[in-house]
Amino acid sequence: MFTERQWVIDIPNPAGECIGFSDYKTCFSIAQIVILFGSCYKISRRRSGASFGRNIMTSVNGKTGRNDFCPCGSGRKYKTCCLPAKDRAFYLMKQQYLRQYRIRLKDPKDVEGIRSAGSLAVASLDYIAHHLAPEITTEYINSLIHDFITSQGATPAPLNYMGFPKSACTSVNEVVCHGIPGKRVLREGDIINVDVTPILNGYYADANKTFFIGSPGVDAEKIVSAARECLKRGIAMVKPGNTVGDIGWAIQEYAESLKCSVVREYTGHGVGYAFHEPPEIPHIGQRDTGIVLVPGMVFTIEPMINLGGPDLRLLDDNWTVLTVDRSLSAQFEQTVVVTDDGVETLTPYNLEEPLLSLIGGPATP
Ligand code: MF3
Ligand code: CO
Ligand code: CO
Repeated sequence: MFTERQWVIDIPNPAGECIGFSDYKTCFSIAQIVILFGSCYKISRRRSGASFGRNIMTSVNGKTGRNDFCPCGSGRKYKTCCLPAKDRAFYLMKQQYLRQYRIRLKDPKDVEGIRSAGSLAVASLDYIAHHLAPEITTEYINSLIHDFITSQGATPAPLNYMGFPKSACTSVNEVVCHGIPGKRVLREGDIINVDVTPILNGYYADANKTFFIGSPGVDAEKIVSAARECLKRGIAMVKPGNTVGDIGWAIQEYAESLKCSVVREYTGHGVGYAFHEPPEIPHIGQRDTGIVLVPGMVFTIEPMINLGGPDLRLLDDNWTVLTVDRSLSAQFEQTVVVTDDGVETLTPYNLEEPLLSLIGGPATP
């Protein structure tokens, strides 16, 4: 009865009734949630693949209002027809993902909060883009970002996070990530990644972008373009039923096709209630492996792509990460949510604008 357009998750039934079948070693009662691509949920109980008991089929297009007609075609209001089944499906899924993976799925109210924090993250990156120029220090960038984020009633998550001393990460050229703002002076031809994470009303959103300082050289243009395309391809894999491995696979395939390398030691991550939550989102991987993506998962995708080899070196400050071969490294990061039928970015900056728009400073071409 299950076609390949459907996928199945076994959920321990909180009612505790044992139906005598389990994918787990212990005897769980199972309620099964089948999410049909095209945003339909089906809740059924089955034993060894055979459907039995009451089946509820409901279309759960996320945009249907409580008082709208139910998309199942019954002619009744959504709220008195299929909505309760959808809510129950989400409730069961939430329990399952928490228990099995320690992943906290977000409900629409939480997503709204993260979306607001995300708008501020994007605004911070836009703001700093206009202030980038040769001869400024990374400390100056930090102070501008700190003041911008706090002026909006938010808190910069990096500040004092596990001892990190500043409000943003600034990673220049061969610095892969976690560069600490300081005395380093930007020069014409540099690339710099600026990574911001505002906490707004308790919600975290994490985003970064790599900018050019003045006109880029050939290598700078190549690696920045590659990293941005990797993020785009990673995001394109996000929809219910795909896996975490699909995201890493898409990124790795593209980066390696350009003879660039993908950083393995640092990954994307769940985000929203905290800075770093389960799961990890590796930027390498194989198709159809790893955790299945389900609606309500919020995580970052943030591929770090090196022009040379993948190997890294950690500086004595215990934060700054460099490429061993000192080749250029670039990164783009967004926070995304898995929706009923695909993906929404909660830090929506344009991944298609002309590459040269990433040249910092007030007069970008
Ligand atoms: N923002 C980084 C990330 O994308 C994490 C920085 S941790 C810090 O996950 F402490 F350096 F801020
Ligand atoms: Co991140
Ligand atoms: Co970040």
